[in-house]
Amino acid sequence: RRSRLRVSDCFATYLISQNHIKEGAVLTKYVIRGGKPLYGEIDISGAKNAAVAIIPATLLVQGCCRIENVPDISDVHILLDILKQMGASVCQRSHDTVEIDCTNVGDMEPDPTLVRSIRASYYLIGAQLGRFGRSRVALPGGCNFAPRPIDQHVKGFLALGAEVEETDAYVDARAREEGLQGGRVNLDVVSVGATINIIIASVLVPGQTVIENAAKEPHIVDLANFLNTMGAKISGAGTDVIKIRGVKALRGGAYSIIPDQIEAGTYMAAVAAVGGNVLIKNVIPKHMDCISAKLREMGARVIEYDDAIRVQKVRRLRRATVKTMPYPGFPTDMQGQIGVCMTLAEGVSRITESIYETRFFAYCEELRSMGAKIQVSGKTAAITGWEELHGATVKAHDLRAGAALVIAGLAAQGETFVENIHYIERGYENLIGKLTALGAHIQRVED
Ligand code: EPU
Repeated sequence: RRSRLRVSDCFATYLISQNHIKEGAVLTKYVIRGGKPLYGEIDISGAKNAAVAIIPATLLVQGCCRIENVPDISDVHILLDILKQMGASVCQRSHDTVEIDCTNVGDMEPDPTLVRSIRASYYLIGAQLGRFGRSRVALPGGCNFAPRPIDQHVKGFLALGAEVEETDAYVDARAREEGLQGGRVNLDVVSVGATINIIIASVLVPGQTVIENAAKEPHIVDLANFLNTMGAKISGAGTDVIKIRGVKALRGGAYSIIPDQIEAGTYMAAVAAVGGNVLIKNVIPKHMDCISAKLREMGARVIEYDDAIRVQKVRRLRRATVKTMPYPGFPTDMQGQIGVCMTLAEGVSRITESIYETRFFAYCEELRSMGAKIQVSGKTAAITGWEELHGATVKAHDLRAGAALVIAGLAAQGETFVENIHYIERGYENLIGKLTALGAHIQRVED
């Protein structure tokens, strides 16, 4: 099976426009020879979902923002390209440090092709609205494993006194004549994106904005810490009530992004599924509590240090029950990875997905082709553990589903070909290098 590029895929269009791949090219894929336990140490990169919020938020700052621990992933490259195209000065100081100065950026529309190729480009709406009082941004793209509405983002902008028009292709937001004013918004669903977008939009708005029923993910705290470092007045991030007192201006400064909770969790699940003993460094163990607890419950040994976690497989995994929840619950972005652990555990495990119901479809069929026994019924998947998986040719349908298939390939007997890897490279820095350092047999090949 060869996967040809679909030109309708905006991300592929972007890759072609940047000469990363040729039109009609056969996409690269990962070839994995499974069954080899993982041993050694790896470093976790900066958090993708913090970086993709902080980079658009630099639009609010007068002066240069030096951002450290930036992950080297395609979602970040695309956001930096968008800012450059809007007139920002972007200087890559080292592989994980970038300096961004948006002082001279005007209120132009960000390139719609780039915007449509990722999800987090919707933060440009909040950033432009907050800085210029108006914004016109194409609707975002990204991993489409489920309907991903933005009505709660819009609810927040309206609470600040904006007028918002949403068509099939664009969001137009602008302040009314009297200008934006701090407001109170109670989110109908706990939304990471809406919480972040409302924080970004309100930082420079006069008065106080209050977000109730806010999301509490670590990257929300990280965004607030970044903005506060630049002079914002945000309190309560990490709780469900966040207060933002508007300031007149933000100034430049330096900030280091937190480690990626989901990247760390992915490697933890990989060791639990495949076997071995790995020290995962540059993590915040507190952010991993829910994942660590679940893996321990399944029989893996998980040892926490100040800024590292060791995971060791000491027995066949036991069955478990997982329900995905907003932070501090079990992350939906770890659903597929823990699902792979369950395909190899004793007994029947269950996952209930409470955030994106259709997320199972992104990887369950592919895992079945590798021998997994999974039955999906509505929001729940019942996974009957089997002694082993076998290699197959599978397709990544989104970032985390792709990560799950890589873990399955590492655990399986024989060769696995993972196609559509551009999804995986949206969010995992140097996946091949890190896994190879742990002794995995994985290569990135072009047909
Ligand atoms: N929702 C609404 N209306 C909105 C916004 C969200 O109904 O206006 C619903 C969604 O449909 C979903 C729930 O609220 O059922 C939560 O969605 P949320 O807004 O929290 O998701 P998101 O901000 O679009 C971020 C991450 C996702 C991650 C989710 C949940 C980024 C760029 N993306 O998405 O990460 O799955 O939070 O934690 O931060 C990934 O990294 O692979 C990824 C998909």
